[in-house]
Amino acid sequence: MANWNDHVDHVLIDEAELREIVSRLAAQIDSDYSGEDKNPILVGVLKGSVTFMTDLMRAMKCPAQIDFMRVSSYGNSTVASGNVNIILDLNRPNLPNEDIIVVEDIVDSGRTLKYLVSYLLNKGARSVRTVTLLDKPERREVDFTPEYIGKEIPNAFVIGYGLDYAEKYRTLPYVGVIRSDKI
Ligand code: PRP
Repeated sequence: MANWNDHVDHVLIDEAELREIVSRLAAQIDSDYSGEDKNPILVGVLKGSVTFMTDLMRAMKCPAQIDFMRVSSYGNSTVASGNVNIILDLNRPNLPNEDIIVVEDIVDSGRTLKYLVSYLLNKGARSVRTVTLLDKPERREVDFTPEYIGKEIPNAFVIGYGLDYAEKYRTLPYVGVIRSDKI
C-alpha cells in the first residue's frame, strides 16, 4: 500500500499545534460573536477547508450554522491564477440578516477571499469576515488580510489537513511540505 507520509519532506504543523491554533481561533470568534443576535454562518470554501472547518466548528461555543461554496480558479496545480468562478453558491433567501464567516484552508494570492467577500456583501450579507488556517503573505497579489489567521507560513508547497496536491494528500492529519520530487 502506498504511504503518503513518505511523500512529505517535513511536517510543518503537527496535530498538537493544529489543535492549539483551532482553539485560539475558535475563542477569538466566540468572543467577537458573543451578542444574542450574532449567530454567524460558517461558509467553508470546498474542498480544502473541510478538515479545518469541521474542527473549528466543534471548538466554537457560539451557535453557528454551516454552509459551503465551491469556487474554481484557472491555472496549474501549484500556481494560483487570477480568475475566480463560483461553481457552488449559497442558496439562502435571508442573506441580508446574516453574519458570514468564510472559512479557508489557505490564503495565497488573496484573490479567492477578496472576491468572495465582495460577492457576499453584494448579495446583501450584513457582515462578512474571513478565517484562514494558513496565510502565505509573501504570495499576495491583491490587498487582502483575513480577520482571523491561524499561522503565517513561508512560500513552500504544503499538503495535508485538507490541502492537496493534484487532489492527493488531503487526508493526512498534519500540514507538511511535499517532497520536491513529488511535484
Ligand atoms: C486553494 C485554497 C483557496 C485558494 C487560495 O483552493 O483552498 O481557496 O486556493 O488561493 P488564492 O489566495 O490565490 O486565491 P484550490 O483552488 O486549490 O481548491 P481546493 O480548496 O479544492 O483545494
